[in-house]
Order: sequence, then structure tokens, then C-alpha cells
Amino acid sequence: MLRAGFRRPYLYVTIVKISKTLKQGGANPGFWGSQTRMPMAKLPNKENKENYVREMFNSIAGRYDLMNTLMSLGLDKSWRKFTVERLELKAGGAGLDICCGTGMLAMELAGAAGSTGKVIGLDFSENMLKVARENLKDFSLRDRIELIQGNAMALPFPDNSFDCATVGWGLRNVPDIMTALREMVRVVRPGGKVVSLDMAKPSAPVFKQVYWLYFEKLVPMMGKIWAGKKSAYSYLHDSAREFPHQADLAKMFAAAGLTETRYHDLSGGVVAVVEGRKP
Ligand SMILES: C[S@@+](CC[C@H](N)C(=O)[O-])C[C@H]1O[C@@H](n2cnc3c(N)ncnc32)[C@H](O)[C@@H]1O
Repeated sequence: MLRAGFRRPYLYVTIVKISKTLKQGGANPGFWGSQTRMPMAKLPNKENKENYVREMFNSIAGRYDLMNTLMSLGLDKSWRKFTVERLELKAGGAGLDICCGTGMLAMELAGAAGSTGKVIGLDFSENMLKVARENLKDFSLRDRIELIQGNAMALPFPDNSFDCATVGWGLRNVPDIMTALREMVRVVRPGGKVVSLDMAKPSAPVFKQVYWLYFEKLVPMMGKIWAGKKSAYSYLHDSAREFPHQADLAKMFAAAGLTETRYHDLSGGVVAVVEGRKP
């Protein structure tokens, strides 16, 4: 009796809490596709975003790869592989990976460009680049990759220098997506492709609710446990919420001067690859 008496109110309170969260959409706008909006954690404004983002990635660099694998349930590798397939980078070609972080996508590019190709990975976080250098040590094509510290908003390369340019989970983090996109377009030769891989917005009912709950509640907890930085993973959720829908991002690709723009939802639209070709 005592046990049942203890359990019922606890269960009741838990159910009420969960149902309230679901009705309100947690801290998410449009959780049920309704107008109910709860405020999200404060994202940095445009002026502070670069410093905020650089410091955040500097602080989680050592655990970034592990967290990526855990959060994506190991799917990140196949997402990167698909991204590089869309780039059409041929053996002997030159590829650019902006916001390269720990170098995982740059290595995938180098695999496509082969032993006569050339890949440049660019990032502004010194600690992410430090981890990238460590990751490259065991990579057979490490001589084909050059890592550069620089800003995606003002690329230090002449026009038409690369056969293609890519960005993985990077556009969400720059202060102005159009500026970064135009820079990618500028440095790619005519006929070359620009491809982004980033968080997206799944549309299937139930799946999308479960996804956003996982992302909002569980991922920051994982970030706290494995990366010692809950706030960085709350930022991840909030920035993904703010990030344009993949269809709108494809329109931004067109506005940046690209043709044949389209997007591909991967893993039920958890992430999307958006692409375009420089005319
Ligand atoms: C989420 S990580 C992605 C890393 C990598 N592309 C991957 O596939 O895992 C985002 C990276 O973008 C970098 N970044 C953000 N804004 C940048 C900017 N304006 N210029 C250069 N790098 C930037 C961060 O330092 C960080 O390493």
C-alpha cells in the first residue's frame, strides 16, 4: 500500500510534466507544427557569434569526434561519404573543406582526390585544427591535405582555385550564411560544385517529435557527461532550430549564384546535403 501510495503521485506528476512539455513543444518553436512558441536559450548575436563559436569549439575539440559518433549513432561517416559523392571530385582534383574542424570530411575528400589530388581544410579554431593534425597522423593521404587557420567569411584564396568546396556542419555556425556561401562560390571554378552537410528538419510526424526531444533533452546531457560542456550541446540544438529548412537553404544556394540546386534528406531528414553548381 505504502509503495503504491508513493508511486501513484510520482507517476502522475511525471505524466503531467511530459504531457505539458509535449503540448508546449518543450522549449521548441512549432513542436507540433502549431503556433505555440517557447523561448529558446539565447543564441549569440551576429557581432558576438564568431568569438562565441570559436571559444566553444576550442573548449570541446578533444571530445568532438567522440560526441559526433555518439550523437549520430555512428551515421556521421556515411553522411560524409554521401556528401563527397555529390562533390564530383575526381582523382587529381583540388577540393576545399571550410569549417573543417577535426578534418574528417577533408580526409573523405582526399580519398576521392587520391594521391595526385590536393585538399585544403580551413577552420578558425586552433584546438579543432590541433585535433585534425593528430587525426591526420594515421591517414595514408595526409601529404595531400593542408590545414589552414582562417575565416570562412573571407577565404584567403583567389577566385576559381578549386574544383569544389564543401562545408560540414559549418554554415549553421557562421555569422552570415550568404557571405560564407558567396565565398565558397567565388573560389570554385565554373562547373565545380558547392555542397553543404548540416542538421536538417525531419518532417515525418512522431519521428520529428522524438527527434527534437532527443536533441533538446538527451544530447545536452550526453554533452555534459562526455564532453563536460552541456551549454555547447544546447547551442547545437538551438542553432539547428534557427538554421533554415533544407529547402530554403537550397534557395540561398541559388541566390549565391549556383545552378542545379537541390537537397537530399538523409536518415529521415535528420541531416540534409544541399548542393549547387557554379555556372
Ligand atoms: C560542427 S564543427 C564541424 C567540423 C567538421 N566539418 C565535421 O564535419 O565534423 C564546426 C566547425 O566550424 C568552425 N567554424 C565556425 N565558424 C567558422 C568561421 N567563421 N570560419 C572558420 N571556421 C569556422 C568551428 O571552429 C568548428 O570547427
